[in-house]
Amino acid sequence: MLNFEFFNPTRIVFGQGTIARLDTLVASDARVLILLGGESARKNGTLAEVRAALGTREVYQFDGIEPNPSYETLMKAVSLVREKKLDFLLAVGGGSVIDGTKFVAAAIDYDGEPWDILETRGDTVTSALPFGSVLTLSATGSEMNDGSVVTRRATQAKLAFTSPHVFPRFSILDPTKTYTLPIRQIANGVVDSFTHVMEQYLTYPADGLVQDRFAEGLLQTLIEIGPKLLEKADDYELRANFMWVATLALNGLIGAGVPQDWSTHIIGHELTARYNIDHARTLAVVLPANLQVRRTAKHGKLLQYAQRVWGITQGSEDERIDAAIDRTRVFFESMGIQTRLPDYGIDASEIGILVGQLRAHGMVELGERKDVTPEVGQRILEASL
Ligand code: NZQ
Ligand code: ZN
Repeated sequence: MLNFEFFNPTRIVFGQGTIARLDTLVASDARVLILLGGESARKNGTLAEVRAALGTREVYQFDGIEPNPSYETLMKAVSLVREKKLDFLLAVGGGSVIDGTKFVAAAIDYDGEPWDILETRGDTVTSALPFGSVLTLSATGSEMNDGSVVTRRATQAKLAFTSPHVFPRFSILDPTKTYTLPIRQIANGVVDSFTHVMEQYLTYPADGLVQDRFAEGLLQTLIEIGPKLLEKADDYELRANFMWVATLALNGLIGAGVPQDWSTHIIGHELTARYNIDHARTLAVVLPANLQVRRTAKHGKLLQYAQRVWGITQGSEDERIDAAIDRTRVFFESMGIQTRLPDYGIDASEIGILVGQLRAHGMVELGERKDVTPEVGQRILEASL
């Protein structure tokens, strides 16, 4: 096992009816900014519940954080917080709203141009405004981690930062708030959280025995409940299990002490930045191709994945690996998500541009062994056609 430090200070408040707990979680004299996406939290009553729970506190509201939140929009929230001298942020929404809130929190007192937070991957963040979240979409794990992904529209750069200062103080996870999610977002959430586990699990064997068993349990749970989630919107147990799986998939626990990949995500971010494809859909395209291209380096873990996650025990080692990659692709497609670049209108002529974007963003040594160079990235994208 590799050396590690594990730190996660986020309080999770889980279950139906828990939004009322805001009254005790947020200081009674806090000057609060609620940050929202589009209309969903207003339409499904979450916003009204949040406002009721905050009672007589001084509350302002910032609407319009878009999916794949933009630096341009978030800087408007930064101005509002500064102008009104607000001291607590409350994200109400999915990963985009929470990620956006993390950026705003870190930008408020940032010494310099806040985009540098992304350019330095968060290393230059020394403080952040405290914030909490009310989660309405299971997918990213942002509700219990210190990561955030922000897009600068002007330059088509989608970059991530992490900082221990941007863990949410608390996150409220009420599964009933996800009942109104469109099927498309449920499918996205299953594929995103599945890929989060794979980025931390499918590398090379590192004797992280319990990390592997946790990861395999999360993958198998997603395989078990994924198709059922598409069938019924208001099944509390299914939604509750999905919500907790997605949180555990990226709260640091399964990644502690083991190598991590993340090249699928970083290549996927280029696809979103350039074509505005949903985050999870980019992962569904890149992951199967990535596993195929790097099957030699990932040989040991691919065999373990085949056997323990998919129960594949017959055939030669190569056949078992082929079958496991194939089952992964079929699983994504069974969730209604297509897994090839041409399904999204992208052909071979675009690959050179995408590889150029990877280079321009300094993404030249990716993966658990830092051997995913732009040339390997090109092969992965070619294998996605
Ligand atoms: O904007 P509104 O109207 O709220 O609608 C949203 C949005 O259109 C809608 N939605 C959310 N909750 C709903 C709902 N619709 C109906 N009922 C509800 N209860 O869903 C749409 C997508 O929301 P978004 O927040 O964009 O989705 P998601 O949670 O998948 O977040 C994606 C973003 O997270 C980043 C991605 O790159 C992407 O920018 N990620 C963040 C990570 C992290 N912080 O650790 C890790 C991930 O790998 C990911 O990269
Ligand atoms: Zn993701």
